[in-house]
Amino acid sequence: PSIHFELTDGSLRTVPAKAGVSLMRHALDNGIPGIPADCGGDCACATCHVHVDPGWFSQLPETTQQESDLLDIVDDLCDVSRLSCQIVVTEDMDGLTVKIPEFYV
Ligand code: FES
Repeated sequence: PSIHFELTDGSLRTVPAKAGVSLMRHALDNGIPGIPADCGGDCACATCHVHVDPGWFSQLPETTQQESDLLDIVDDLCDVSRLSCQIVVTEDMDGLTVKIPEFYV
């Protein structure tokens, strides 16, 4: 599947994604700016915060309690906020679009 990242300058970066790998890992491996992912994907830092395209948000697996607790600390929290390390890409996520928030924590 292909995943689209909308950067803070409004530009769009499309990356080839692999099922079974987190969205955060795809961002890091493709040099997407704005996702430091300080904790390495352990759901402990919130620096991998993204805003999911509203059309896609409801199609993603549910947010866990741990993720939603951590999301409470981010700036730019909105009703389509997720932690990208907690979204594991599946084949049916082709075209998934997420936006990098202006401030990640
Ligand atoms: Fe730390 Fe996602 S990388 S919470």
